[in-house]
Amino acid sequence: MAEPVDFCVFSVLVTGSDRGIGLGLVKRFLELPSPPKWVFATTLDLEGKETKELRELVCKHPNLVVMQLDVTKLESIQAAQNEVQKCVGEGGLTILINNAGTWDFNDLQTEVVKDITNVYAVNTIGPQQMSQAFLPLLKKAALRSPCQGLSSSKAAIINMSSVGGSIELMAYWDQYQIIGYRCSKAALNMLTRCQSHDDQASGIISIAIHPGSVKTDNNRIPEISVEESTQGIMTVLSKLCEEDNGAFVDWLGRPLPW
Ligand SMILES: NC(=O)c1ccc[n+]([C@@H]2O[C@H](COP(=O)([O-])OP(=O)(O)OC[C@H]3O[C@@H](n4cnc5c(N)ncnc54)[C@H](OP(=O)(O)O)[C@@H]3O)[C@@H](O)[C@H]2O)c1
Repeated sequence: MAEPVDFCVFSVLVTGSDRGIGLGLVKRFLELPSPPKWVFATTLDLEGKETKELRELVCKHPNLVVMQLDVTKLESIQAAQNEVQKCVGEGGLTILINNAGTWDFNDLQTEVVKDITNVYAVNTIGPQQMSQAFLPLLKKAALRSPCQGLSSSKAAIINMSSVGGSIELMAYWDQYQIIGYRCSKAALNMLTRCQSHDDQASGIISIAIHPGSVKTDNNRIPEISVEESTQGIMTVLSKLCEEDNGAFVDWLGRPLPW
């Protein structure tokens, strides 16, 4: 049985959380013995069929706020930021989880501008724009935190990366080439390193995390369940400290090569 996790977080926002790993993370935060005062879950379509489970969770958890958010649209990011700001006030946003992601199955021969542009927009530019928009709220959380050093109880940016973006490993190459996806996640890893350098002085820790090969809608070779992945990620988050800033790790906290 997985070891129970507990850590104190004032507020958390998970992008792309109507299904898959994002929804799993929202559930894990709501289940904490001391759950956050605010859990922001986002979906592309508030009325959509995929959002049904979130709508049901809202009835049971008054600390859960479900918001519309398209990470590729600046006006949507700004509207979400305003909504979060109204809820959290001076408490700020403790954890931003850039989880929303997309892919196509293109190889080197079939990759096309439209597909690779969309994958970059969601997987790389989205997290960059989200982190930029929410930086003032993350700074507020860090400033108010009594915690010494960096930690996810103070302020954190968690970028959901992939082992597919590891240049050294070239993982699963024989099964999938997924060119746009690999490149977008390698770029997301670089974004994480840049954030770890710049945001450290503001008390914000940044990491890139590979959730495992998880049984979600598009994975043809799943190895672990959403529950195993998200339980592992929660344990990793609960233990984050100064030395982890700018790290690339998997759902069990094991370091991955860039
Ligand atoms: N599953 C794996 O094995 C695996 C492995 C490595 C890394 N990852 C990474 O982990 C993250 C979650 O993966 P997953 O398997 O849970 O994916 P998923 O089941 O396909 O869910 C993706 C989520 O992102 C949302 N999304 C897509 N485009 C968006 C946009 N423009 N704005 C906002 N939200 C958007 C989707 O919304 P809709 O429901 O409306 O489409 C959905 O909620 C991704 O970043 C993925 O790359 C997953």
